[in-house]
Amino acid sequence: MMMTANKIYIYKRFERFWHWTQAALIIFLALTGFEVHDSIHIFGFQKAVEFHRIASYSLIVLLIFAIFWHLAFDAWKQYIPTRKNLLAQIKFYANGMFKGEKHPTEKTALQKLNPLQRLIYLGFKLLMIPIVVISGLLYMFDKTIDANQVVVISKFRLENIALWHTFGAFMLIAFLVVHVYMTTTGHSYTSNIKAMITGYEDVEPELPTDEETKQ
Ligand code: HEM
Repeated sequence: MMMTANKIYIYKRFERFWHWTQAALIIFLALTGFEVHDSIHIFGFQKAVEFHRIASYSLIVLLIFAIFWHLAFDAWKQYIPTRKNLLAQIKFYANGMFKGEKHPTEKTALQKLNPLQRLIYLGFKLLMIPIVVISGLLYMFDKTIDANQVVVISKFRLENIALWHTFGAFMLIAFLVVHVYMTTTGHSYTSNIKAMITGYEDVEPELPTDEETKQ
């Protein structure tokens, strides 16, 4: 008997828009940021500074909408960490999936993240993004703060701000590399990416019941 994949609706329209816009902005901010850092040369220094600034404002606006969306639709609950199946999920990524084993956790619209994703995305939201955004804003308003004689400037030296910002940038890039690799570990190599484009994901087929096997 042939087993066909089931399709379930996982990602809502705003979620998909937010995901791809955030990905594009982070990649663009990495390109322009590392040009400011003098590691790469694409747009020219002045343009890179200008583009970095515009993209960072866009990211902040997007993040405000995303925070509102997570709170308004209770989507933040998807990220509450759990130890249930965490070890099984790690074992699956380290070993099981190469042997074609079944995913240890089932994906549904109400539980779109497995226990490992919950932990990593929570770190992304509560650690990586805040580090890069807060250090970026301190970097941006460094001179204004200085001119206004606000104490902050004496506590955070610009070199330290730049260091934290670059550290945050490296963490985001590391996240991106692992994240893109992980997208290939779904029901098929492309099923996760397709889901984030269309909203619908192919999930593992349900095993046939005894009745169905007899037919
Ligand atoms: C809201 C988010 C962000 C803000 C407000 C921000 C702001 C800034 C500012 C003000 C600078 C100094 C250059 C300038 O005057 O334009 C800078 C540099 C830089 N940014 Fe961002 N940025 C943000 C997000 C990002 C992201 C997501 C990345 C990478 C993934 C990134 C990577 C960098 C790098 C590598 C530098 C150069 C650091 C240095 O060498 O001093 N930034 N950013």
